[in-house]
Amino acid sequence: MLKINEHFLKLQASYLFSDIAKRVAAFQEEHPDKDVIKLGIGDVTKPLPAACIQAFHKAIDEMAVESGFHGYGPEQGYAFLREAIAVNDFQARGAEINADEVFVSDGAKCDTGNIQELFSLDARVAIPDPVYPVYLDTNVMAGRTGNLRDDRYQGLVYLDSTKENNYVPDLPTEPVDLIYLCFPNNPTGSTATIEQLKTWVDYAKENKALILFDAAYEAFIRDDALPHSIYEIEGAREVAIEFRSFSKNAGFTGTRCAYTVVPKECMAYDSKANKQAVHPLWNRRHCTKFNGVSYPVQRAAEAVYSTEGKAQTRELVSSYLKNADLIAGVIGELGFDYVGGDNSPYIWIQGNRDSWEFFDLLLNEAGVVCTPGAGFGKCGQGYIRLSAFNSYENVVRAMERIRQALK
Ligand code: MLT
Repeated sequence: MLKINEHFLKLQASYLFSDIAKRVAAFQEEHPDKDVIKLGIGDVTKPLPAACIQAFHKAIDEMAVESGFHGYGPEQGYAFLREAIAVNDFQARGAEINADEVFVSDGAKCDTGNIQELFSLDARVAIPDPVYPVYLDTNVMAGRTGNLRDDRYQGLVYLDSTKENNYVPDLPTEPVDLIYLCFPNNPTGSTATIEQLKTWVDYAKENKALILFDAAYEAFIRDDALPHSIYEIEGAREVAIEFRSFSKNAGFTGTRCAYTVVPKECMAYDSKANKQAVHPLWNRRHCTKFNGVSYPVQRAAEAVYSTEGKAQTRELVSSYLKNADLIAGVIGELGFDYVGGDNSPYIWIQGNRDSWEFFDLLLNEAGVVCTPGAGFGKCGQGYIRLSAFNSYENVVRAMERIRQALK
């Protein structure tokens, strides 16, 4: 008799964004004439930058002839892309990262979900609340938690991100080994300063812990004082892995390309307390379970770093930031407390009512889809998240409808 991995039974029935998509589909079926504007999932809506399209076409043409054809590429990514990433995203900001520490992949969702495989099942895991559900659910699937009780999995250390701490969690009061952090934050849109990140790096060094730093939204940072990478913090090479994505800066949600940085100094420990480098472990996993991102996609990603690509992606991000500014302005005028929207595409709104109730109200009365904060954790109850990923025209219409529905 084949037995299942019973840890899966601890999970809530459906993944947050699938659940929302189902509810929206049901609403649209019931109200076929209602126009629904989606400010829910952080999925981009604008076309790929022209530089990426050109690189894509060129790469496809290369694939059409025997002399330019590419079969399997290196699992870790082509050298041209790894080099461009190391130089532009890190060395240009004074962060010491080399091309062979970059692992190209098909998504930060997969990487942030898969990374926990490298660590022991008794690792003590600290997870922010609210949080991008992938970090949490993959640890549940792996068996690192007990059951869900009172909206929290037993055995995890939750790091509350609340109004009181400006949505940047405080250090844990009990020992932890693995720490998930995300800045600019999903879902709250909050940002962390160099000093705040330094506190975490120092903690990790003192406690032989490791930080998993999700920087998928770094391109939205416009405040020059804020760090874009954890490697801008001294000592982070020893204690942090960073995840990046081309999804939100260059519109690759449907194209798929991301990367993970594992510095060679990054260490974890075996059962005899001997240091073990994490880099070869991730390399081994990557080579075994992944066969690389396609050549045309990597050429398109490389184009993000060309002069035109840089200008075009900046413009793309600016257009979403303009939406975010509009959303934040209206929400503020309506008298709600909120965070985010300036260095982030997300606006986290204290709704003063149940999150799902607020979700239903916006869907029914305004025809606008948001994400209920409770879906991101217990601390998200009473909040909703609005995303800036849509056209400016749609955001103008959505905010006008929200204004009418809530006034
Ligand atoms: C979100 O809406 O939180 C994100 O788009 C989800 C993702 O990037 O997977």
